[in-house]
Amino acid sequence: MSQSRHSKILQTVAWEQGRLRLIDQNALPGILRHLDYTDWREVVEAIRTMIVRGAPAIGCTAALGIAMAARNQIAAGREDFLERMQPIAEKFRTARPTAVNLMWAVDRLMELAYNTPGSVVDIKDALMREALKMLEEDLTANRRLGWFGADLLADNSNILTHCNAGALATVGYGTALGVIRAAVEMGKNVHVYADETRPRLQGMKLTAWELVQEGIPVTVIADNMAASLMRQGRVDAVVVGADRIANNGDTANKIGTYSLAVVAKHHNIPFYVAAPLSTIDRNLPTGLQIPIEQRDTREMTHIGETRIAPEGVGILNPAFDVTPAELITAIITEEGVLRPSFAHSITAAFEIAKKAD
Ligand code: MRU
Repeated sequence: MSQSRHSKILQTVAWEQGRLRLIDQNALPGILRHLDYTDWREVVEAIRTMIVRGAPAIGCTAALGIAMAARNQIAAGREDFLERMQPIAEKFRTARPTAVNLMWAVDRLMELAYNTPGSVVDIKDALMREALKMLEEDLTANRRLGWFGADLLADNSNILTHCNAGALATVGYGTALGVIRAAVEMGKNVHVYADETRPRLQGMKLTAWELVQEGIPVTVIADNMAASLMRQGRVDAVVVGADRIANNGDTANKIGTYSLAVVAKHHNIPFYVAAPLSTIDRNLPTGLQIPIEQRDTREMTHIGETRIAPEGVGILNPAFDVTPAELITAIITEEGVLRPSFAHSITAAFEIAKKAD
C-alpha cells in the first residue's frame, strides 16, 4: 500500500495506473489522502476497517479488488484459476455482513468468471472490464436517482440526513447527498442538518466535510436533537441512504435511522430512502432476515485513544437497524421514485431496468 496526498476530483474508489486507489476515510476530515493498493488482502482489510465504507463504495471496491486479484493470479489453467479465485471471493463477501452491495458485486464478478469462455487471460480481462463498468454504473445511477429525488425537495427546505450517504459512500456524487446535490444543481436553496452519527461520527466527519467542500449549508446536530427540531418545524424532509432493502421495502441503514423514521412519521414529515437497485436484496421477503453487523465495543467506549466509559460496563454496538417499510414515504432509485406498496413498485423497477439492459 502506498500514499498520495491530493486529487482534485472526489472519486472515492478508482483504478489508477494498475492500482486500486481509495480515499482514506479514517483520516478525514483532517487529512484528504489516497491509499493505493496492489494486494487484494489489504483491500479486504480496508473494507473491514472502514478505510472505505458505505454500501455502494464497498461493493465497487470489492469488484476492483477481485479483478486485481485475478490479474495477479498465476494459474495452471482455467479450472485452477477459478478454484484459486473462490476463497478470495469469499474473503471479500464476508468482509462486512449488512450492505448487500458487497455480496451483489462479488457474485456478479464470480458469475462472469465462470461464464466467460476462453483462456484465463480472457477471464481476467472480462473481470477488469466488468469492475470498471460497475464504477461507471454507480456514478450514473447516483446522478439519475439524484435528479429524481431532487424533484421531491421544495425550494428553501431544511433536510435532515443521517450517517454519510454521499460521494464518500459511493464511487462519487452519493445517494442521499446526491439528491441534495441535484437539488442545489437545479437552483434550489437547501440547508442540511447532519446527524453526527454516533459512535463513528460519519455525519460529523464525512457528511459535514463533503458539504462544506461544496458550499452547501450544513449544520451538525447530535443524534438526540432531531426530534426536538422536528417538533419546532425546522425539518421539511428526511433523506437517508440504505445498506440493504428487503423486497417489501424494509430498509437497513446506519443505527439511528429507525428512530428518525418513527419521529418523522409522528410529525408528518416525509421520510425518503435514496438507494440504487443494487442495494435491494430480492432474496429477502422482509427486513427481519437482514444480518446486522455488531462492531467492536471500543467504538463506543473510546473517543480516539481516550476511554470515556467506566471499566466493566456492558456495551452494545450494532452498526445498523431496520426501518419498517410502513414508515418510508418513498424509495428513490435510478429507475424512479418508488411508492408503497414497495413489493409492487420494486418489482416494476427491476422490470424496467431489465428492459433497458
Ligand atoms: O458503517 P458505514 O459507514 O459503512 O454505514 C454507511 C451507511 O449506513 C450509509 O447510509 C449507507 O451505506 C448508504 S451509502 C450510499
